[in-house]
Amino acid sequence: MNNISHLISLLGGTGSVAEKLKIKPSAVSNWRKLNKIPKNKISAILSISSQLKINAEDYLPRKNLNNFNVKILLIICGGIASYKSLEIIRLMKKTNIDLEVVITKSAQQFITPLLVTSLIEKKCYTDLFSVENESKMNHIMLARKPDFILVAPATANIMAKLANGIADDLASTILLASFSQIILAPSMNPVMWSNLATQENYQKLLGRGIEFIEPDVGEMACGESGTGRFPEPKIIFEKIVSNINKRKNTTDQFKDVSIIITAGPTIENIDPVRFISNRSSGKQGFAIASEFSKRGARVTLISGPVNIPFPKCANIIQVTTAKEMFEETMSQLPADILICSAAVADWKLVPESSSKKKINNENKIKKTKQELLFKTIKNPDILATVAKSNLRPSIVVGFSAETNNVIKNAKSKLVSKEIDLIVANDVGENKVFGDDFNKVFIIDENNCEEWSEQSKKSVASNLADRINKIFINSYI
Ligand code: CTP
Repeated sequence: MNNISHLISLLGGTGSVAEKLKIKPSAVSNWRKLNKIPKNKISAILSISSQLKINAEDYLPRKNLNNFNVKILLIICGGIASYKSLEIIRLMKKTNIDLEVVITKSAQQFITPLLVTSLIEKKCYTDLFSVENESKMNHIMLARKPDFILVAPATANIMAKLANGIADDLASTILLASFSQIILAPSMNPVMWSNLATQENYQKLLGRGIEFIEPDVGEMACGESGTGRFPEPKIIFEKIVSNINKRKNTTDQFKDVSIIITAGPTIENIDPVRFISNRSSGKQGFAIASEFSKRGARVTLISGPVNIPFPKCANIIQVTTAKEMFEETMSQLPADILICSAAVADWKLVPESSSKKKINNENKIKKTKQELLFKTIKNPDILATVAKSNLRPSIVVGFSAETNNVIKNAKSKLVSKEIDLIVANDVGENKVFGDDFNKVFIIDENNCEEWSEQSKKSVASNLADRINKIFINSYI
């Protein structure tokens, strides 16, 4: 028996359904034959079903989430809310989401792998080291396959593991080995949630661009009340769907668009052991490269020396000096967009003796009784040179690091370097450099927008939206 035929039988059969809907029995027979209910009758069928406490949605065709074949990995951690994730699975199963599920050891105190397997109609995963898994779908494949990883409920424990890079079971190992968007839906006792350790982990994870579906306020199963309740599964599902839609709308946004991004500091050697540089970590530029890659752009990332992992993007060029960064940038032209987020060393230092004689710096410079002096030689301005060249990309974006007169100085760089947009930040008192959060002003020739403090990943995403607007307008 097909699905629709089965549903109609549950609703009392052809005659009964036809009578309730005031239509001819032959029409209902046709639905049974074609395994299809006309769109304008679906809400009536849903209403009769709910009166009879039958879940009609289980028999109706799956909702197609905009033809976007999204892959989600759901990690269920142990807690009183574990069972609520079964409802999330049920809702996802009604869509074309390709779902895999991992259950942690403690979640198995609340729900069984068999229960989950019967809901998802395929194997769910529990063990890090299993001969069968390793041959078919090992932890790295589980980590790499999904577009999104939803951890629901997320315990204080999994937050702590992820924040501190602990990989001691399948769930935590996958989280560490993944490039996917991770979304956590925490649920825990209110005191555990407000504990400084959990809050510090929460901030750390937010800063790394991990998304949260915030816990609700209310009475908990343990009898205490406060913040920590697991949000309703339907709310979690809706947030995931809205994330999917956003991803879908932006996936090919910059398809076939070539972008050069400079990032990190540059280093100018004084001698083989000493150098001049700055505090740039490269985090903001890397987040931008990653965001544009996700949106389909052909990204070339030209990076100075950094201590952070490289993002996934088409082309990565590592340089040390400003001169190398300049030459590599020029060699990548033409391009559609240039974003210079690098903190380029403005000068090279040439060591001189007090009598202004150049000192041999091929080997380590030795201390003498004489003062050591430095002559400064200006490095090329990459941003200004490209913006003023005849290979100028259609959009040129710069950054402005200032300790005072942040907006005024940024505006004057916008004009003098002849660029379209400048992202200004206050780098005084060691702010911004190395941090996971950023507070920026976005300035073009007409406006200055102040953005609230947010993760560098979120700045990257909002900047991509902003550049997309300019990009569209430049073709109208
Ligand atoms: N920039 C560049 N090449 C340089 C210096 C700066 O491409 N040699 C770019 C940076 O990547 C940034 C912008 O110019 O996008 C502004 O850099 P910033 O360090 O804020 O200012 P500077 O132009 O170096 O001027 P100053 O140091 O005097 O503020």
